Amino acid sequence: METIILEIDPLNIEEEKIKKAAQAIKENKTVVFPTETVYGLGANGFSENAVRKIFEAKGRPFDNPLILHVANIKSFLEFSYISYSLLEKIERLLPGPVTFVLRKKEIIPNIVTAGKNTVAIRMPAHPIALKLIEYAGVPIAAPSANISGKPSSTLSEHVIHDLKGKVDYIIIGGKVEFGVESTVIDLTQGKVPVLLRPGPIPPEKLKEIFGDIEIPKFVYGIVEADYIKAPGMRYKHYSPNTPVILIEHDEKENMVNKVVDEYQKYSNAIVLCLREHSLFYKEKNINYDIIGSEDNYYEFAAKLFEMLRKYDEKVEVMIVEGIEDKGIGIAVMNRLRKASEKTV
Ligand code: TXA
Ligand code: MG
Repeated sequence: METIILEIDPLNIEEEKIKKAAQAIKENKTVVFPTETVYGLGANGFSENAVRKIFEAKGRPFDNPLILHVANIKSFLEFSYISYSLLEKIERLLPGPVTFVLRKKEIIPNIVTAGKNTVAIRMPAHPIALKLIEYAGVPIAAPSANISGKPSSTLSEHVIHDLKGKVDYIIIGGKVEFGVESTVIDLTQGKVPVLLRPGPIPPEKLKEIFGDIEIPKFVYGIVEADYIKAPGMRYKHYSPNTPVILIEHDEKENMVNKVVDEYQKYSNAIVLCLREHSLFYKEKNINYDIIGSEDNYYEFAAKLFEMLRKYDEKVEVMIVEGIEDKGIGIAVMNRLRKASEKTV
């Protein structure tokens, strides 16, 4: 199918173009758009027919529910059963890189929520995303804009690579801000909110707002069979075709030694390393690229999927230096543990 590409500057949005994309949503077509986390693949969240096209374009299993993207706070009241006191709490994080799982209202078709009685709702902070939803006049169901199981798209070239020819429109709107998907928090599990997916909003911030929260072990890559609450967790995720070896964070000396041990097992590996370690690898003539630094985990998050895609099928194996499970580092390590074949 023919894909129409619309280039839009997020800081100077051309009304004509965004209206064209919003019209496409109204006509139940598929539109890829930027958000502050990763690119999304959207369609009219009220239309079963439109939402089916999303699953087909991505090759996504129908039992993995989608996030409903909205442009204002009152949409939470329209699409879910939420108390005013809870709404006041979540308002403090909106718009932003966070998704709330709530009890679903009838108006949302079952295809969006994979037949569940809960719905994931997110109000993104990206100006293009917000305008698109607002002008479309309907909520936009959207997963990340990548082929199912592959790393999410953080650059326009990623969406073009994965989805050109499979969707009606692609809005090119520059680089995303965070580079990892939104924090997903389940508010339907009784007393305490449950963190289903770590993201840019860290647990400390959630605790500040909700008091206590539950952080299941799977968030840290420890999988207990009976604790699969986020449907998306069952599937292999974020994996490039080239194997990834993850070196868990440690003191510099231990880490670089482990990296060198692994590196020597292959004839064509790349090390994705912390800036602080790059000189060491350079002196040893090791093939490396910098993915982030010890003192800025946001940079690491923003480059994570970009790097996994950049070296995919270019090397035999990617050896990635991990960071600490703190702040956005929890989200980074969650994705890396899922992407990797092996952890050292
Ligand atoms: O940052 C993001 O959230 C991006 C951008 C495009 O907004 N979207 C995104 O969507 O990452 P997706 O489909 O790749 O991930 C949504 C996650 C999945 O793991 C899904 O299983 C979970 O949210 N989810 C959706 N609805 C749910 C529900 N009702 N209960 C529990 N988990 C749900
Ligand atoms: Mg995804």
